[in-house]
Amino acid sequence: MEGTQVLIDNQVLDKAVGYLSSRITRRPEVALVLGSGLGDFASQLVNPIEVPAGAIPSYPTSTVEGHDGRLVFGTLKSDERESLPLLVFKGRVHFYENGLLDSITFPVRVAHSLGARVLLATNAAGGINPAFSEGDLMLIEDFINLSFLNPQWQVQSNPASPFQVMRGSHIDEGLSNLVTESASGLGIKLQHGSYCFLRGPSYETKAEIEMLRRIGADAVGMSTVPEIIIASKLGMRVTAISLISNLAAGLSDERLSHKEVAQTASRVKQVFSALLTEIILRIKN
Ligand code: HPA
Repeated sequence: MEGTQVLIDNQVLDKAVGYLSSRITRRPEVALVLGSGLGDFASQLVNPIEVPAGAIPSYPTSTVEGHDGRLVFGTLKSDERESLPLLVFKGRVHFYENGLLDSITFPVRVAHSLGARVLLATNAAGGINPAFSEGDLMLIEDFINLSFLNPQWQVQSNPASPFQVMRGSHIDEGLSNLVTESASGLGIKLQHGSYCFLRGPSYETKAEIEMLRRIGADAVGMSTVPEIIIASKLGMRVTAISLISNLAAGLSDERLSHKEVAQTASRVKQVFSALLTEIILRIKN
């Protein structure tokens, strides 16, 4: 699968961006990616403009339940406050769906080209840290990239110097503080930790989870890290939050399933939505 990377060059990007520019009235400043089962959040946008992913030239579409593949432009309003213009991705495409890193990170490049300078990514993840419970929210403070995948286009854009410095973290400290303050302002418990990215699509074995715990992972999932890498490389400010949808393999008696992931997401949706709203209303450019 990896041998078939398609080159997403500027022409391909320009086409998608050109199409979307013709559909919107304001350029987005904040991009929000909604993970498994969290897509409903997009219904809170004021004056929404919805674009199905399938209508956008070269845009990847998802096959996974709970990832509905729509882009929604708009703002959030609450009392006297209005957010910066938003681009919300309802669902994402995962590496395990098409094996194309360039393709799954394309949405972030599109958001950036449209004007977004902040990325807020969300996902559902398995909890590894023994202090975590199902339904917790975790601010991703850093990640472990155990997929060993790195977006190819960076090499293509500068073949003479393909190396990237992993400066401490790709995550923006100011935004992390904003997330923490938003949670404490609302009285929402927020865990903090490192997210480990694996390719999937199989869930892990007990032994793998034990290994991940020992190397310092607090949560595990199959997304988000490629988006974070691309966004920070593009100079965007990035923050990301995991919904701990289940305890990782071997940490509970329950058998893992996508259904459980979706059920927990549905249970915690309101709290998560409240937190996302508060964060987005506080983001300034
Ligand atoms: N493992 C990997 N990915 C996941 C999990 C998990 O336990 N839960 C949600 N996404």
